[in-house]
Amino acid sequence: MFILGIWDGHDSGVTLLKDDEVLFSINEERLSRRKLDISFPEKSIEYSLNYLGLKKEDISVIAVSTTEFAKTLWRMFPFLKENYYLIRRKKKGYSSFNAFKKKLKYKITELQLDPLSKWISRLIIKNKLKQLGFKNFKLVIYDHHLCHAISSAFISGFDKALVITIDGIGDALSGTISKLENGKLERIKAISGKNSFGIFFEHVTNLMNMRELEDEGKVMALANYALPIEDDKNPLLDFFTIDGLDVKAKYSSLKTYNELKKILWVYPSEQFAYMAQRTLEIKITELVRNAVKETGFKKICLTGGTCSNIKVNMLIKNLPEVEDVYVFSHMGDGGLSMGSAMFANYELNGISEYDFKDVYLGPKFSNDYIKAVLEKDKSGNISYEYIEDIEKKVAKLFFEENIVLWFQGEMEYGPRSLGNRSILAPPHSEEIKNALNLIQKKRVWYQPFCPSMLLDDAKEILEDLKGTPNAYMTMGYMVKKEKQKLVKGVINIDGSCRPQIITDYNSKFARLLLEYKKLSGVGILLNTSFNLHGEPLICSPEDALNTFSRTPAKYLVLENYLVTKK
Ligand SMILES: [Fe+2]
Repeated sequence: MFILGIWDGHDSGVTLLKDDEVLFSINEERLSRRKLDISFPEKSIEYSLNYLGLKKEDISVIAVSTTEFAKTLWRMFPFLKENYYLIRRKKKGYSSFNAFKKKLKYKITELQLDPLSKWISRLIIKNKLKQLGFKNFKLVIYDHHLCHAISSAFISGFDKALVITIDGIGDALSGTISKLENGKLERIKAISGKNSFGIFFEHVTNLMNMRELEDEGKVMALANYALPIEDDKNPLLDFFTIDGLDVKAKYSSLKTYNELKKILWVYPSEQFAYMAQRTLEIKITELVRNAVKETGFKKICLTGGTCSNIKVNMLIKNLPEVEDVYVFSHMGDGGLSMGSAMFANYELNGISEYDFKDVYLGPKFSNDYIKAVLEKDKSGNISYEYIEDIEKKVAKLFFEENIVLWFQGEMEYGPRSLGNRSILAPPHSEEIKNALNLIQKKRVWYQPFCPSMLLDDAKEILEDLKGTPNAYMTMGYMVKKEKQKLVKGVINIDGSCRPQIITDYNSKFARLLLEYKKLSGVGILLNTSFNLHGEPLICSPEDALNTFSRTPAKYLVLENYLVTKK
């Protein structure tokens, strides 16, 4: 039975699975080239079926999520969704999103679920799928937070855990706490959309003139540069009260925005960011502590957009009462297609465990395909050669302080580049870091880069390697003081980093790190996503060449081909 999971909202996408295997997952942005695309994922559907050699009639179950009133309205009138997308990405003036519309937006997203919206959503989706050529399929629709929770729970490998979802809002909720035991999930708490940590941080991001649902990581990064303010002098800590498993926001969503606006002008930007970040850290860890105390469950699965906050995740991991933390690598709404497909598989086939080794779930391209693409290039600006031992050659380039654009294997699912579509560089140089940030990727100066490191190196340089080593860059770790000079290009100013820790040494990427270690003594590289700022991660060799041509980088690796700019 092939099951197709579809998510048709913010960062839309699809997942295809069969039995206990995820066959393919992709987000629409990778194909449409519109970052965090919100369109119905038609391109992803066509692409994934073609890639796997499947026909529409092979799909017997299609699983979708989220039927709240606001989402249903967007399904009925897609131009509303498009309009918000353009405003949110600051492609369209914020003035057209005036106070009244803002108020309306928050009011309608907070409305309780109603059967009519669900019925209309089902009708629209079913018609859409029939238009696309699907026949004789069973359509199942699930709750937003259930889908977030399932994706994290079913691939965590934990038998018994607390599954915590935290996001802006979805199906009228901003969070849930569930118990996972022997493949069964039992929700013990639902946090209403009116008490949303995600919307609070979304407001902070927006007020700092950044893109909500996209730049929250920059707020977290900027917070590191603030002169710390004592907790009892932080006015934002009052915005939430935690009582057991209850979360209570002091103000409504819109009032929160207005109150934050008043505070923003009193403090420097970085201190405002610090106070907001500190609020998440204190309140969410308090909630987790209460949940552990109440249930006795000591392993935690985290997911939902707010769980992209690696500093909060690190504090949760380091709580003495917590044994281990698993953070789903595609924790935002972009990961919902996997959750809905997995829940359908659980309901229909009883499957709750997956052999989930990695997130390389997108397309792969052969050397022959790449050669044909390179032969078509008529720019005259590049030369290329096939190199059998490409890892050794590229390791030498890093040792000579070069930046290399690295493309190999299946594309990553989720927001992080994990060595298949990556821009890589030596980890020790602040100069390279700045060149990458400001010239190559055109990012803000305070945004840190992440390291990819072999497990042996992680043991050497990280202070707090507690629990399962994090393979997905979803967790913060502190770097030992005496080791910080080795990784100056990939740590935050506070000495923390967000590593990809590699435990399987057989991959091509691991071999590259091993070759670099032979030369430099460290199996660590700076690893950032292969894209330019504000664009989606590249997908195909054609995308790679296009991006390469728009950066000053000299070297590009496409599988075994080393491409050099003349
Ligand atoms: Fe969500």
